[in-house]
Amino acid sequence: MASVRLNELTKEFKEVVAVNKLTLEIKDKEFLVLVGPSGCGKTTALRMIAGLEEATGGEIFIGDRLVNDVSPKDRDIAMVFQNYALYPHMSVYDNMSFGLRLKRLPTGKLWPMNTRRAFSKQEIDRRVHEAARFLGLESLLQRKPKQLSGGQRQRVALGRAIVREPKVFLMDEPLSNLDAKLRVQTRAELIKLHRRLGITTIYVTHDQVEAMTMGDRIAVLNNGIMQQCDTPLNLYNHPANMFVAGFIGSPAMNMVSVTVKAQGDGFVADAGAFQVELPKAMADKIKPEEGKTCMLGIRPEDIYDKNLEGLVKPTAGNVVKVNVDVVEPLGNDVEMHITVGDHTLTAMVDNKTKARSGDQIEVIFDMDKSHLFDKATETAVY
Ligand SMILES: Nc1ncnc2c1ncn2[C@@H]1O[C@H](COP(=O)(O)OP(=O)(O)O)[C@@H](O)[C@H]1O
Ligand SMILES: [Mg+2]
Repeated sequence: MASVRLNELTKEFKEVVAVNKLTLEIKDKEFLVLVGPSGCGKTTALRMIAGLEEATGGEIFIGDRLVNDVSPKDRDIAMVFQNYALYPHMSVYDNMSFGLRLKRLPTGKLWPMNTRRAFSKQEIDRRVHEAARFLGLESLLQRKPKQLSGGQRQRVALGRAIVREPKVFLMDEPLSNLDAKLRVQTRAELIKLHRRLGITTIYVTHDQVEAMTMGDRIAVLNNGIMQQCDTPLNLYNHPANMFVAGFIGSPAMNMVSVTVKAQGDGFVADAGAFQVELPKAMADKIKPEEGKTCMLGIRPEDIYDKNLEGLVKPTAGNVVKVNVDVVEPLGNDVEMHITVGDHTLTAMVDNKTKARSGDQIEVIFDMDKSHLFDKATETAVY
């Protein structure tokens, strides 16, 4: 088992800085998700850790060992790719054991001419059966890949990595070729597998839902730069900047341009068409923003229909009169597109709402759950 430590890891492709001074420590046995939009540098970061791509700057440690100059096969890492390829003419057993059968070690005599098999037949057999049991593939070991479903093939690709008993797993969007239902199922299996094996894992995805459900911690990457690394709940509750606020959570957080004004013993956010009271508890943080234009962030699920009995009580500082544009029932919740002045917002309200398209209603903003961002730096004020 091992931790992975990245220190200012950088990759420049001519003018493109794919990964920019990535500093991150993945603890032993941790499941860390690296998430971000397409092209933000996830694959490049993973390939550098695996040794498939040379870093142009920074350091990679696996355990206490600096591995920048260690060849991929000596890094004790197994990587599962998005586009895994199984050998079509080989059985599941042979696909899984192939790497182990091939691996040879020097005998010490007349090296490197004399080599021997690294693993005995019995050892290979033990590892394949153990991995197959973990993955529910035991009854399929003699099948060929074309006789398997997509999900089963994906598990064989995982099995091939597991039998190597690596110190670290690197997974690059391994579920993206599966259909939605299978993806959810395999996601759960991967988490269970990680609990049982306890192998340090770095898992790459562009899907924030996948990141939220799988990660012990999530590192959010944008344009090669790490934005924030924290637990799923902390990222959701306390996004460090507007990028993370918009990326984590679905539907995305509403952002409204406001002017911060002092009022009474606190502050209000004036959006022109409406005004809301900012949380008193955050007054010290808000003070330096007085008179400035900021972005007020409020998640759709933190907006309530005032006509329904709810946990958040209406006050003079949290009720907003809005026009209902579109009402989309989703089952438990109703997604509402609402407008107020020039602002268009999304609200997720209880399905008991009577609001219909074209209505004018009052909604409550749960201001204790609101966020405020400096408009220039895009970083969170609170
Ligand atoms: N071999 C390469 N040569 C030049 N540019 C590359 C190469 N590989 C990746 N890039 C660029 O680096 C950036 C990050 O790519 P990548 O790591 O594949 O992103 P992601 O996996 O997050 O989608 C992109 O702008 C991509 O075009
Ligand atoms: Mg990629």
